[in-house]
Amino acid sequence: MNTPKKNKPTLLVTGANGLLGQKLVNRLLEKDSFHVIATGRGACRLPQTWEGFTYASMDITDKENVLEVFQRYSPEVVIHGAAMTNVDECETAQEACYQQNVAAVGNIIVAAEQYHSFLVHVSTDFIFDGEAGPYTEDAVPNPVNYYGETKLQAEALIQQSSLNWGIARTVLVYGISHDMSRSNIVLWVKKSLEEGKDLQLVDDQLRTPTLAEDLAEGCILMAEQRAKGVFNISGDELLTPYDMAIQTAEFFKLDKTKINKTDSSAFRQTAKRPMKTGFVVQKAKDQLNFKPKSFTEGIEILAKQLNLAN
Ligand SMILES: NC(=O)c1ccc[n+]([C@@H]2O[C@H](COP(=O)([O-])OP(=O)(O)OC[C@H]3O[C@@H](n4cnc5c(N)ncnc54)[C@H](OP(=O)(O)O)[C@@H]3O)[C@@H](O)[C@H]2O)c1
Repeated sequence: MNTPKKNKPTLLVTGANGLLGQKLVNRLLEKDSFHVIATGRGACRLPQTWEGFTYASMDITDKENVLEVFQRYSPEVVIHGAAMTNVDECETAQEACYQQNVAAVGNIIVAAEQYHSFLVHVSTDFIFDGEAGPYTEDAVPNPVNYYGETKLQAEALIQQSSLNWGIARTVLVYGISHDMSRSNIVLWVKKSLEEGKDLQLVDDQLRTPTLAEDLAEGCILMAEQRAKGVFNISGDELLTPYDMAIQTAEFFKLDKTKINKTDSSAFRQTAKRPMKTGFVVQKAKDQLNFKPKSFTEGIEILAKQLNLAN
């Protein structure tokens, strides 16, 4: 186990095995401005070649476990990225979703209050109904599915707490990580076209897709500056899933004639999706110096990582 250096504040990441969690740990180690405590469910699934951080197993739904880990490390800052993130699963397994996305945030709040940690909490565009996107930070939430409902309840718990807090809201995150458990739009489109499949993508929903590295950087900027309040941390290009698929096919020189347009009324998913979300990210640009990549730049970065991984 690493001994925390006295001159660096301690930052604890939850959900470190996930896509955002891995990007956070990687970037924090590069920046070297914090002593990093990476926590996740069960064993560490971060690359074995990474050095300079401490891993602790922490199930956020287990209050005693959370308090014990906070007691061990007294983190000055916490970035809470762990959540149940599969939107359709959240709709069907609502109790599990509530435990991970709401009750667990209660556990993090109690521990952070006890150790006076600054909390950066990660939230979502799915707290909105998609009737009036792109949204600014002060827009009125109205979730249309259970995942969005729980993420909104978690925001409310944080805002009502006595903590110093920042909320980073994000949109449709894409990227690659080590030992990925979940795919995302760029990887799915690339793989499906390589396998010669025909794809159906909606062209009546709008999002501002977010490179996982950009989300990590935005959260770290908030952590470094102890930035209080809500910040939209996403890409700043409004695209439909159909547009994203076409750009992905063009970048990887795959057959884009296999990509077909559909609309939300024809494309049934378990949980309802908000139609037009996406974020205005001017506040984060002005106050945090946040600089999101374009979607093409993002795919380019991801492609380089894929080449390195192969
Ligand atoms: N991905 C998106 O498009 C998107 C969009 C908007 C907002 N967000 C938000 O961004 C954050 C990060 O998402 P992501 O894309 O990195 O998702 P992810 O890859 O699914 O990562 C989530 C992580 O949370 C962990 N986790 C879940 N329950 C836990 C528990 N009880 N104890 C400890 N860890 C637990 C998961 O652990 P396991 O690996 O063991 O399952 C996983 O590693 C989430 O708060 C999500 O709501 C994501």
